[in-house]
Amino acid sequence: MAVAFVQLAKEMVSPTQVYVRFVRVQAYAPSVRGREKRINKATAPGKVILFGEHAVVYGRPAMAVPVLEVQAKAVLHSRRGDGFRIVAANLERDYRLADAPPNNPLAKIICLTYQYLKQPLPSNLELRLTSTIPLGRGLGSGAAVSTAIVRALAMFYDHPLSAEEVSALVYEVEKIHHGTPSGIDNTVIAFEQPVYFVKGKPIQRMHVSSPFTLVIGDTGMVSPTHRVVGDLRSRWQADPQQYEGYFDEISAITQQARIIIEQPDSDLARLGKLMNENHEVLVRLGISSPKLEQLIQAAHQAGALGAKLSGAGWGGNMIALATPQTAKAIAKALTQAGAVGVIVTKVK
Ligand code: PMV
Repeated sequence: MAVAFVQLAKEMVSPTQVYVRFVRVQAYAPSVRGREKRINKATAPGKVILFGEHAVVYGRPAMAVPVLEVQAKAVLHSRRGDGFRIVAANLERDYRLADAPPNNPLAKIICLTYQYLKQPLPSNLELRLTSTIPLGRGLGSGAAVSTAIVRALAMFYDHPLSAEEVSALVYEVEKIHHGTPSGIDNTVIAFEQPVYFVKGKPIQRMHVSSPFTLVIGDTGMVSPTHRVVGDLRSRWQADPQQYEGYFDEISAITQQARIIIEQPDSDLARLGKLMNENHEVLVRLGISSPKLEQLIQAAHQAGALGAKLSGAGWGGNMIALATPQTAKAIAKALTQAGAVGVIVTKVK
């Protein structure tokens, strides 16, 4: 049995704290009897929202892109049968599917996928999950883990699924993570390409005419999406007219951004300005935070063409539009300003 030692950042997340430490886990060579030829593993990327978060929950368009630098991975192994086991290595959790608490998102996606594939649940399989996507920071960790699981099971049972099918299954579990999700996370992650997304409408794939560079800075603060979305919803209920106005402003910005990204020789300076404008409205919506502002300011000072928070807000990640020349300086400035993680990615 091949044994490799893999270093994993372990994150145990409670609403108020994040602990990061390193653990050693064993990666086993596949040895599923009778299924040696079957593919037993799959991955899924992270994502960031470029424009339109929150407004998308209220029917406006949003834009999101996959982030391939971070990935969730699901691997199936046979084991002596004491039930289907879930091993969440990053969380150091190992439990039987049958013992999972109600509304456990991992148990839900496994059961939904088995139902969809019309396969009986086996008693001698282990699903091992690892991820380099930070939890609860707007990079789509939950949707990516669910997507990797659906893909791994579909391949294991030789039942290829379309990106639409994967996305629809994952959406069911996003409801546990997010309450009233727009569906943008499962869509961009299942399709693994830039998307222009309107809730309830068929996905629109985007053509990125001039690839551009994003620097993503992590505040290190966990921000449960359902709380931010719920808080905003109560403020919207109290004053729908004002909030609908904000969402319309974001919608206009998102539509302009799409035109720029898709037209030849994209005006990236203008795109950066639109990111700033989108962020200003998000500030008025009350979903920024001092740490996000600190990182956004650092990005501007280091020469970003534009910057904004990305995802639910209150914490999580921000994004800055860079050029290949400025990306390094912006990444350094974000780290100096207190970012706990920085990713440089190319959108294409
Ligand atoms: O979970 P996050 O941080 O990627 O945020 C999701 C984006 C929201 O628009 C805030 C919610 C949604 O369901 O679209």
